[in-house]
Amino acid sequence: MKDKVKNGPGLKEFIIGDSETVLTGRPHIPYLPENVEIGSKRKVYFDVYGCQMNLSDTEIVWSILKNEGFEKTEIEDEADIFLVMTCAIREGAESKIWHRLDHLRGFKRRRSLKNKQRPVKIGILGCMAERLKEKLIEKEKAVDVVAGPDSYRDLPRLLALTNGGQTAVNVLLSLDETYADVVPVRLNEDSVSAFISIMRGCDNMCTYCIVPFTRGRERSRPVSSIAEEVRQLADQGVREVTLLGQNVNSYRDVSQHSDKLDTQLAKGFKTVYKSKKGGLRFADLLEKVSSVDPEMRIRFTAAHPKDFPDEVLQIIKERPNICKALHLPAQSGSTEVLQRMRRGYSREAYLDLVRHITDSIPGVGLSTDMICGFCGETEEEFQETLSLMEIVDYNIAFLFPYSMREKTTAYRRYKDDVPEEVKKDRHNRMIEVYRRKCQILNEAEVGNTHLVLVEGVVKKTGQLLGRNELYLKVVFNQQEILSEDNGQRLIRPGDYVAVKIIGAKSSVFSGMPLYHTSISDFYRDRTWGDRRVVTL
Ligand code: SAH
Ligand code: SF4
Ligand code: F3S
Repeated sequence: MKDKVKNGPGLKEFIIGDSETVLTGRPHIPYLPENVEIGSKRKVYFDVYGCQMNLSDTEIVWSILKNEGFEKTEIEDEADIFLVMTCAIREGAESKIWHRLDHLRGFKRRRSLKNKQRPVKIGILGCMAERLKEKLIEKEKAVDVVAGPDSYRDLPRLLALTNGGQTAVNVLLSLDETYADVVPVRLNEDSVSAFISIMRGCDNMCTYCIVPFTRGRERSRPVSSIAEEVRQLADQGVREVTLLGQNVNSYRDVSQHSDKLDTQLAKGFKTVYKSKKGGLRFADLLEKVSSVDPEMRIRFTAAHPKDFPDEVLQIIKERPNICKALHLPAQSGSTEVLQRMRRGYSREAYLDLVRHITDSIPGVGLSTDMICGFCGETEEEFQETLSLMEIVDYNIAFLFPYSMREKTTAYRRYKDDVPEEVKKDRHNRMIEVYRRKCQILNEAEVGNTHLVLVEGVVKKTGQLLGRNELYLKVVFNQQEILSEDNGQRLIRPGDYVAVKIIGAKSSVFSGMPLYHTSISDFYRDRTWGDRRVVTL
C-alpha cells in the first residue's frame, strides 16, 4: 500500500497554481470576462483514439460543449476547433496521434494563410494530455488547449481563453469527478449500442500500466445516475449497453447504504489497495441496470480477476439480458511475470477462477488481454502464456507486445530487456495460437442457432452484420423472415434475429437468418448450453 501511494499520482496532479486546491470537488472555474463569447456557432471536429472509455468521454465533452452553443462537424474544412481524444497506453498509440497532429498543424497553417478571420484551434484531451501536460505544447507548438480526463467541465473556459491567442492547460485530476450529472450526447445516434462509464480511474497500479497516472484514483458513479442513463438510452432505441470501468468488480456506490457484508477476496488473490467498505456493489448495479429493460443487452468490461464474488456470477447466470461473456484479462500465464506485473494472482489462482466461472455459468465466453515481452520475460515464462492460452478457450483476445511507459513502477524498477525482435516474434506466436484455437471453437458452432443483435450493413458486401451473445460478429444476407406477429418482414438494425451458423472463420461467422425474436422469447425454451469445458 505504502508503495502504491508513493508511486501513484501525487498531490501535485490534484493542485493547480499555488492556491487553487482541488483535492476534493470540481476544478474551480474562475469567472470569464463578460465580453468573452464562449462558443456560439464554433464548429468542433472530434478525433477519438484509445479505448471505449475515450468514446464515452467524448460524448460527455460533446454534451458540455453543445450546451454552450458549439456545433459538431465531420468535415475538416468546416471545423474551427479540432479536439483530439488521446491514448497513452503504448508508444504505438501515441505515435499514431503524433501523426495526426502533424496533419492538423499543416491544416492550421494553411487555414491561417487562407482565412485569417477563421483561425483553427487544436485541443488535446484525454490520457496523453494528462501524461505529457505542458510538455505537449512545448513539443507541438500548434496545440492551443491541453485538457486531462477530469477537466472537461472546464473546456468552454479553456477554449475561450485561446481566443486571445493564449494557450490553456488543465490537467488536474480529481478524487470525485464522475460527470454523473452530465447526460452524454451520442456521437453516432444511429448506433444500436452505447457505452456507459460507471467508474473512473484505477487504483490497481499494475507495474506496466500508465492508466492510474493518466486517469487518477478510482471512483464510482452512483447507481441511480447509471440506471437513469440506461433508461434514456432504451427510450432512444438503443439495444445494448456496455458498462465501462478499468476494474468493474471493484465498483462501489458509497452514497447508498447496503446491508450486505463485505466479501473477502477469493483464495489466491491479493490487492495492493484497501478496498472500499459498504455501499452498493457491482452485483447490485447489474441487478438494477438489467431490470431497466429486459430487451436491453448488458455487457461490461474490464473485470480484474481479483474480487470476483459469486453474487456477480449468480446475477449473470440468472438474467438472460446480461451477456454470458466475461473479459477477464490474464496479462500473462507465468506466476513470476504476474508477480512482477503486480497483478495480485498466480497462474493457478487464475485457472481456478476460470474453472469456477465456467462451472457456475455453463457456456460462458471468456476474453483476455495478454502482454508478451514484459521486463525479464524468459522464453519459458512466455511459453506459460502460450500454454494458458491453450488451456483456456478464449473467444476474443487482445494481444500486445510490451511497451515501456515512463512513470510506471516497471520503468523505475525493471529493465525493458526483451529485444524488439523477440517481442515481435512472441507476439506472432500468441496470435497464431489464438487464431488457431478460435477457428476450432468457432467451427464447433456450425449448425447451432445464435441470438444476434443486428448492428448494420457491411459496406463492401451489402450483407447484414450483427453480434452474438459473446460479441462475435455474424454476417448474413438481408431477407424477409418470420416476424413476431407471424408475418414476414425485412431485417433492420436493432432487431434481434435467430441466426443459424453455417460457416466459421477465426473472427467471424456466416449465418442464415431464421426468424425475428427477442431476448425473452429466444431464451424461453432453451438454456444457455454447456459448451465450454476447461481441461486443466
Ligand atoms: N483495466 C483493464 C485494462 C486497461 S488497458 C484491465 O486491467 O484489464 C488495456 C490493456 O492494455 C491491458 O489489459 C494490457 O494488456 C495492455 N497494456 C497496458 N499497459 C501496457 C503496456 N505498457 N504495454 C503493452 N500493453 C499494455
Ligand atoms: Fe492498468 Fe492494471 Fe488498472 Fe488495468 S487494472 S487499468 S492494467 S493498472
Ligand atoms: Fe488509452 Fe487512456 Fe484508455 S491510456 S486505453 S485511453 S484509459
